[in-house]
Amino acid sequence: MKIFTISELIGTMKQFPLLQKVSPVEAVKSLTFFKDVPEAVLQEIVDGIFIHQYAKDEIISRHGRYNEWLYVVLSGEISVFIITPDYTKLELYALGPEDFFGEDIVIRNEPRESTAIAFTDSILLAIGKQELTKIIASSAATYEKLNNAFLQRKMRNNLRSIPIFTHLREEVFNEILDVVRLVHVKKGDVIFKQGDVGDALFLIRKGDVSVYRAMNKNEELISLLAEGNFFGEMALVLGEPRNATVIANDDCELLKIDKNDFDSIIARHVDVYNTIQAVALERVTGHELFDSNEAFISKKLIELNRAINKHIDVIAQCTFETPKGSALLATLPGSRYPYVYPRDSACATRMLYRIAMSRLRSKDIAFRLLAGIAKFIYNCQRDDGYWGQRYGLDAADKSIYKQEDNVAHGVSILCRYLLAAKNRGHIPHDNEAYIEAIYKGAMFAVKRYYRNEIHLFYSTTSIHESAIEEGYSIWVNYAYYCMLLLIEQVAKEFNCETKFEKAFVLKEGFGTIVKNVFTIGDRLIRRLKPDGEADLRPDITLMSPFFFGTGIVPDIFKADEIFINTMKFLEDTLWDPDLGMLQRYLPFIEDPNTHVHAGNGPWVQYTAMLAQYYYFTGNVEKGDTIMDIIDSYSTDGYLCEHLTTPDRFHEFMTLEWLPGSDVNKEFAPDIMVDGITYDLIVEELNHMKNSYDQIKRRIETGSVRYLTFAIPLMWSHAEYAMALLLKTWRQLQDTGVKQHIL
Ligand code: CMP
Repeated sequence: MKIFTISELIGTMKQFPLLQKVSPVEAVKSLTFFKDVPEAVLQEIVDGIFIHQYAKDEIISRHGRYNEWLYVVLSGEISVFIITPDYTKLELYALGPEDFFGEDIVIRNEPRESTAIAFTDSILLAIGKQELTKIIASSAATYEKLNNAFLQRKMRNNLRSIPIFTHLREEVFNEILDVVRLVHVKKGDVIFKQGDVGDALFLIRKGDVSVYRAMNKNEELISLLAEGNFFGEMALVLGEPRNATVIANDDCELLKIDKNDFDSIIARHVDVYNTIQAVALERVTGHELFDSNEAFISKKLIELNRAINKHIDVIAQCTFETPKGSALLATLPGSRYPYVYPRDSACATRMLYRIAMSRLRSKDIAFRLLAGIAKFIYNCQRDDGYWGQRYGLDAADKSIYKQEDNVAHGVSILCRYLLAAKNRGHIPHDNEAYIEAIYKGAMFAVKRYYRNEIHLFYSTTSIHESAIEEGYSIWVNYAYYCMLLLIEQVAKEFNCETKFEKAFVLKEGFGTIVKNVFTIGDRLIRRLKPDGEADLRPDITLMSPFFFGTGIVPDIFKADEIFINTMKFLEDTLWDPDLGMLQRYLPFIEDPNTHVHAGNGPWVQYTAMLAQYYYFTGNVEKGDTIMDIIDSYSTDGYLCEHLTTPDRFHEFMTLEWLPGSDVNKEFAPDIMVDGITYDLIVEELNHMKNSYDQIKRRIETGSVRYLTFAIPLMWSHAEYAMALLLKTWRQLQDTGVKQHIL
């Protein structure tokens, strides 16, 4: 994206049709958008109006963000879309020259609900909030124009977000849009009573409601309904009085369609009728003995779903659809890391898999994402079964570092996809190809990394991109243990046990071996060096038995005394004294083997894993305290990768970056893949230099308590969501819920 002011542009681009007139005010005045704005006001604000030039496919504004511009299209075509509840991108409208968008910046102070991308190369006029506020104060007609557009677009967005209308044909959708009204109800409001005449259908856009029925003189709670659900359909479809009372549990936004309009639409559109009737019939025959335990579960699941959706949404935003599957990027498309990392993807699928297997509403979304990610990862695998550190959007290998855990991650992702598919009762048509890929991956790892002498997997690096981990690490070995457990389940579910016999021989006793080998004294250790010496330094990978032992079904992790001691050691040593949260290992500046990474500090994804551990083991209060600290570092709901302080950054700059020792560590020949091309190193160095220059500027602008890197990091959101899931799982366990619902 390029930015100019109007005056700059006029000076240099006289040939541009809009800008042939000489003065900047004359130039903007020619746009109909400014038709009703007094010239004196235009004069006052014109230097605060910018020209933004976007290339095709660039993202102009993103949902979830508080954007600061209203745009008027000068040339090109803009597509505005939402990510629907089933996580497909749905175009809401297309805009061309003279159209505007982004009016929500002055109408209300909430994050954007839709995303705008340049469908072709485009040039836009960008007006800031301050300037726009002056414009609407001076011109009631402009305010009305913006307000009307806002209301219309919001309604379109609202209605498309209700699943039964998401994929409706545009002409039917438009008919419904014409008759629907947005109504606000307050917490505790009775929306209608049992026995009333049914005069409208209600769709829930925001909030949740309770459905009560009078039974044996008591009002019994029979259902809780939340966003995306509808109610009041039974009286309309079955021609009976309201069969229940509906009360708002919070302040809700509802979409209301009056009976006459509803009748006229269903009379003409049988598909709409059929969908609604099917739900009505299901509710007639559905069980209604909604005891207090079930109501509690239902409420918990609604709340969890809401909280988790925000994070799944970030994951969906980081997903880039390609012909080879869904490329799950480490950060948002267009930011620093345009790569897919099998390790990060595997961590995300650990969470998506659990959700896909649950009773949560977002299980379908989670499964769709899981399937897309698995397809992409499948396409990244090399013929001999290998997966490396990272891949480009075309699934080409872009690895810099050797990381021997990635084969375990690749296999685990494919296994999770197959298991979730089977659990949902559908066997993917390409399951044999996936099983073959799993087999090839497992055999590659056994042949290349497994050392029969010691019964462990050997690696040069593991989770940290530096040379401190050569040998037999707890992370890599638990990653393979998890892989073997998942393969075992796949083999059973897909009847191919004989194919995996060799892998099973290995699995026999492997769990005991890893547990014993990595225990020294009363705690775990992170690594055995190649010569057998124990690496006693603290490291977040000490959480591996928990991390890999959960997120499979059934969880095999048990918090024994050794593990509890280990976690105590981990927290005592790695808790950041200034910022809170967990550091990944102890840094030693100028230690040739320890990589400090722009200033040491806490890492969000690992801290969220710590919260998961506390939730899982029943210490909900401690889990909450940790999650609160993470929340305190979120920006507009986005979580970063890691943080540092300005002082530590400064020390890193003077002791590591400027003398070149950081570069020597980052690109030490021992940890790089063989035959790495020079351009990849230069690209990475450039990214680093740019990001450090940006940080320096940020520090210079004023008092900054902490610095964040890589925001949002998809992985951090995945671990945070998993923590939320484990919290609810635990709370439901404590109420004695028998069914496996999470
Ligand atoms: P209606 O009969 O028009 O008004 C009461 C509404 O409560 C009804 O339509 C349904 O939308 C809703 N309702 C009734 N029974 C159930 C149920 N078992 N589960 C969920 N919703 C229900």
